Amino acid sequence: MGRFGLDGFKVLVTASTRGIGRGIAEVLLEEGAEVYICGRTRESVEKAIAELSPLGKVRGSPADISNKDEAEALVERAYEALGGLDGLVYVTGPPKPGTFAELNLSDWEYGVRLLILSAIWISRKAIPLLEKSGRGSIVYLTSSVVKEPLPNLALSNVLRAAVHGLAKTLSRELGPRGIRVNVVVPGKILTERAVQVAKDMAARSGKSLEEVLKETSSEIPLGRYGLPKEIGYVVAFLLSPMASYVNGAIIPVDGGLLRSI
Ligand SMILES: NC(=O)c1ccc[n+]([C@@H]2O[C@H](COP(=O)([O-])OP(=O)(O)OC[C@H]3O[C@@H](n4cnc5c(N)ncnc54)[C@H](OP(=O)(O)O)[C@@H]3O)[C@@H](O)[C@H]2O)c1
Repeated sequence: MGRFGLDGFKVLVTASTRGIGRGIAEVLLEEGAEVYICGRTRESVEKAIAELSPLGKVRGSPADISNKDEAEALVERAYEALGGLDGLVYVTGPPKPGTFAELNLSDWEYGVRLLILSAIWISRKAIPLLEKSGRGSIVYLTSSVVKEPLPNLALSNVLRAAVHGLAKTLSRELGPRGIRVNVVVPGKILTERAVQVAKDMAARSGKSLEEVLKETSSEIPLGRYGLPKEIGYVVAFLLSPMASYVNGAIIPVDGGLLRSI
């Protein structure tokens, strides 16, 4: 029996073979939910399913969510495999780093598909299915750069703000239809992606990777990067009946990184 009352909940977690999505899938499985995962390749999905299976009932299939047809088909497959849908946890792949000057137009077009259109395609398919659940909810994962932009992440700085707009819009439209919509805003979470961002900063500044990781940790009041499962616990709460009056919330999980009030 899980702690959050998620036993038997059927949840699609996108971009979840590694990193934050994977940490969320782990927590949900430990809490008794049935989880459908995805990544871009059959190999990565099968490997993740094999590793996650001891925790609970996990299924999945490959889908590149920056592609409309693949994103939409993913939701349909998840619904069929799970036999329903109670939760959608939207995580997307990391965008290409870079300043505005460094990014070209095709980077922007791809960024729009990866960071915002994917959320719209997946939500449009999932909403009628979540409505049937009677206890359905959506959690969008974004990034602390929405609140405090970072120099080398122009795509994320600009496009994730639109996901917050989508979530606030849907929380008002879908509340009356019995679907809650919330956002979790990760700060610095220790994943392959975070190490890659730190390597990039090291290369630009001439510092070592260790120096960059130490400096970054010192900016966080709790003095360390977060772990993917620490995001998962908050997502589990938001999906659960314990969060039955939480709707339209935007919740940072960042060790206190964000300074804004
Ligand atoms: N880590 C942080 O500190 C941090 C902070 C704030 C926000 N974020 C954001 O959170 C998200 C996850 O970051 P992460 O650190 O967990 O990254 P990660 O460790 O690189 O993992 C990315 C995951 O996304 C999947 N993926 C990538 N592109 C995809 C696509 N087009 N379609 C479907 N799945 C895709 C990957 O699976 P395959 O390789 O199998 O395709 C993998 O499972 C990113 O959007 C990132 O920008 C991260």
